[in-house]
Amino acid sequence: MTHIPLANAVTADLLEEFGSPLFVVNESVLRQTFRDFSRTFSTPEFPSHVAFSYKTNYLPAVCAILRNEGAWAEVVSGPEYRLARRLGHSPGEIVFNGPWKTRDELETALAEGACIVLDGLDEFSTVESLVGGFKQPARLGIRIAFNGGKTDWSRFGFAHGDATHILERIAKNPALDLHMLHSHCGTNVGDPGVYSGAAAGLVELAKLAAALHLAPAFIDLGGGFPSGVNLTPYARAITKTLRPLTHLFDTTPALLLEPGRSLVSLAMQLVCTVVAVKDIPGRGRAIILNGGRNLLPPACREGPGTLSVIRVKDVDQPPQSSYAPVAVFGPLCMPEDIINESALLPPLAPGDLVLVHEAGAYTITQSMPFIRPCPGVVLLGPDGPVLIRRAQTDEDLFACDVLPPHLKQS
Ligand SMILES: Cc1ncc(COP(=O)(O)O)c(C=O)c1O
Repeated sequence: MTHIPLANAVTADLLEEFGSPLFVVNESVLRQTFRDFSRTFSTPEFPSHVAFSYKTNYLPAVCAILRNEGAWAEVVSGPEYRLARRLGHSPGEIVFNGPWKTRDELETALAEGACIVLDGLDEFSTVESLVGGFKQPARLGIRIAFNGGKTDWSRFGFAHGDATHILERIAKNPALDLHMLHSHCGTNVGDPGVYSGAAAGLVELAKLAAALHLAPAFIDLGGGFPSGVNLTPYARAITKTLRPLTHLFDTTPALLLEPGRSLVSLAMQLVCTVVAVKDIPGRGRAIILNGGRNLLPPACREGPGTLSVIRVKDVDQPPQSSYAPVAVFGPLCMPEDIINESALLPPLAPGDLVLVHEAGAYTITQSMPFIRPCPGVVLLGPDGPVLIRRAQTDEDLFACDVLPPHLKQS
C-alpha cells in the first residue's frame, strides 16, 4: 500500500491552526492520480473521457481540481448536478445517474443537454412525458443491470430484455437520442475480468442498437476501480472486449469511465489525536482516537488495506521492535466504533497524532455529525495549507431545528 508522506511538523502545525481531527487533501497527489488514470485508459482505438463520481467526494475544491485536470462529472442527484454546473461544467460534460431523479431534476438536466442515464421503465415513461419542447433531442443513456461481481448490483438499471424494448422505443421517437450505453459493476472491484463481462453485455446491446440505426456516442463502464494499484489490466480487459464496436458504427463510440475511489482515496488523509490509552482485560492494549466511524464509515474501508494508522508525532521513528498489536477505537459511545481491531503500532500516549491513510473516498460525503460535529478539511496546495471546509460548530449541529414555543424555557 502507498502512504503519502505528510511532514510531521506540518501536521502538528496544521492541527494547531485548524483543530483535530482534520481531513487533509494533497493536491499534487490528486492531480497525479487523475493523470495516471487518464493515461492508463487512453488507447488509440477508443477516445476516452473520465467523469469523476461526485458522490465519492464532493468537496467543491476536490471537484474543481479534477475539473481543472479535464475530468467530467458523474452525478446522482440535483445538488450534485447543480454543484457541477456551478463549478463550470457544461451540461455535455455531465452524466446523471442514479435510481431516483426527481421530475424537476430530469427536466432541467434534459433541457440543458446533460445525459440522463435511465435506471428503469418508470423513469423512461417520465422522460417520455417531458420531452418534445427541448432545443435538442433528449440525451439518454441506458444502464444495464449488472450482477457479476461480489455484491449484487442488479437492482440498478435494466434487465437485458427491458433494455431491448427501450432501444426500440427510443428508435421510434425523434425527440430521444441514444447517447450512451452504461454499466457499473461494483466498487473496489479486484478482478479485471468483471469488466470484460460488463463490456461484453454492452457490446451485445450495441449490436441491437446498430440494427435499429441508433449510434451511441459513448460506452460507459462506470467506476469501481481499486485505488493504489496498476489499472493497466483493467484497461486491457475493457478495450479488448469492446473491440467489435470499432466496426459497428460510422463513428466509434468513445469510452467513458466514472471512477470515484481510484481517483480520490489516496489523496486524502485523516489526522487524529490519541485521546486515551487503555489496557482492557481480555483484549489488551487499546487506543482511543478523536475520530472514528463518524468520519470513516464502512464504505471507505471496502477491501483489505484501505486503512492504516501510523504514529507521526515524533520525528525520530520509534524502533521497529517497539511495535505491538493494539486495538484502535473511535470516540463514539457505541461498541461498533472500531477503526482497527489490531493495528501494529509503536507505544502511543494521549496527544500523539495518528494518520489514517486512504481516507478520500466515501468519507467526507458519508461523514455524520453523530455525537460530535464534523471536522474541517485543509488542502495542501501549491501555496501551502488552505482551509477548504471549516469545521462544524455546535450551532451547525442544531441549525435546522425549531423549538416550538410551548417547549421554550420561560
Ligand atoms: C453509477 C456509478 N458510477 C461510479 C461510481 C463510483 O464507484 P467507485 O468509487 O468504486 O469508483 C459508483 C459508485 O457506486 C456508481 O454507482
